[in-house]
Amino acid sequence: AKNVGSSPWKFTFLPLASSRVRNDVDGGRKSENMVFSEEVLEAHDGASKGKYTIGLGQDCMAFCTEVEDVISMSMTAVTSLLEKYGVDPKQIGRLEVGSETVLDKSKSIKTFLMPIFEKCGNTDIEGVDSTNACYGGTAALFNCVNWVESSSWDGRYGLVVCTDSAVYAEGPARPTGGAAAIAMLIGPNAPIVFESKLRGSHMAHVYDFYKPDLSSEYPVVDGKLSQTCYLMALDSCYKSFCAKYEKLEGKQFSVADADYFVFHSPYNKLVQKSFARLLFNDFTRSASSIDEAAKEKLAPFSSLSNEESYQSRDLEKASQQVAKPLYDAKVQPSTLIPKQVGNMYTASLYAAFASLLHNKNTTLAGQRVILFSYGSGLTATMFSLRFNEGQHPFSLSNIATIMNVSEKLKSRHEFAPEKFVETMQLMEHRYGGKGFVTNKDCSLLAPGTYYLTEVDSKYRRFYAKK
Ligand code: ACO
Repeated sequence: AKNVGSSPWKFTFLPLASSRVRNDVDGGRKSENMVFSEEVLEAHDGASKGKYTIGLGQDCMAFCTEVEDVISMSMTAVTSLLEKYGVDPKQIGRLEVGSETVLDKSKSIKTFLMPIFEKCGNTDIEGVDSTNACYGGTAALFNCVNWVESSSWDGRYGLVVCTDSAVYAEGPARPTGGAAAIAMLIGPNAPIVFESKLRGSHMAHVYDFYKPDLSSEYPVVDGKLSQTCYLMALDSCYKSFCAKYEKLEGKQFSVADADYFVFHSPYNKLVQKSFARLLFNDFTRSASSIDEAAKEKLAPFSSLSNEESYQSRDLEKASQQVAKPLYDAKVQPSTLIPKQVGNMYTASLYAAFASLLHNKNTTLAGQRVILFSYGSGLTATMFSLRFNEGQHPFSLSNIATIMNVSEKLKSRHEFAPEKFVETMQLMEHRYGGKGFVTNKDCSLLAPGTYYLTEVDSKYRRFYAKK
């Protein structure tokens, strides 16, 4: 599963979620992606064999060529969602976008999506963009869900779009990029329902990953620090989440109380470490998920300080060993798209969630899933969703059918790493630029895909639809 088609970039994948005291996610579309194999990239970069595929746990990485960007991907995702579920654009009352890919410091991506609604006479749509690294999509989602649950809700749907192109400068972080857009519909009677009281957040001021250089698309990233920050935020969110659950339900929470765990996925290895960390938390809380054999394996680490526990390789190894069977059952079903596409920043968590829907839609009704959203800088929330069958067209099975994940992954186009590097060089040159036309080559894009044709002398961007 390391090789995918062969060709350009772009990638729009979209599920949608909806809610009202409930939320649900529906499938959307992705179009042809341009991807390359991480195994091939290892060789190209001179990295040791297995570093990207086993060490980071990634199979492929998607990227945008010069004709796609976060705006075109979100246009494609939104249009596809509305068409595939037969939703009249007039039925949308709020549109929120989460993104950390900066194309304009003032004008929101949301406004670029408005022509889809303006042409149907609907300009009465609240919402703008939310930004904080990979967390913006979750902020946008919460805004929409809160709106639907509020006294200002006017009975229409909310629509959330997560769209990002994750690119890094040459170096160790480069193989952890990716690109995607996801659209989610929020409304009442959904098959995916928020357990709104069950949320734990952790927010702090840290320089683990940030974008201070406005002339560059690349972040400044301290990879090791970001990994520790992610795990610390996870611990803190889990602690708050468990406390709220215990107050509400009158009993202790452990990983045994959820059927699935879905994580923001900068790269799969961190997801493996994260789930193991939850089990270590359960061990320190003497929770029921930890059996005698696991207790014995983790006992040598019970006296570590918090700080020491983040640095201990032996603990990492032991807890991953203990977690392995539960990881396979409760986490692995959500890892497909992130491993195949790479980090999608704001879309990453929801692409992982879409993988779960794809793999398990026939058995999800009645089950609970816990999601962990992390955005560097840092902002993080753990929250809970429950499933029911739902009604056509928003049934779990129809969502999976519309998402059509297997076909979308199969129909991607694979490029050599050289083409990716060449594209990155062109994009570095173009970033923040004006007065250029693209090659307008949409031959590898699926019908219905939007693409960038021109940025004029006043920085205005023009798009066409294939
Ligand atoms: N075979 C198998 N495994 C290998 C091999 C090999 N040949 N070589 C190395 N490895 C393993 C290492 O042991 C390590 O695994 P471990 O963590 O379990 O020990 C893993 O591969 C990575 O190797 P490192 O040497 O640690 O890799 P490096 O330091 O070069 O870079 C890093 C990894 C830090 C993840 C880098 O890619 C990075 O900075 N990425 C960006 C991270 C990021 O985006 N953080 C922000 C998170 S929030 C957000 O999403 C924006």
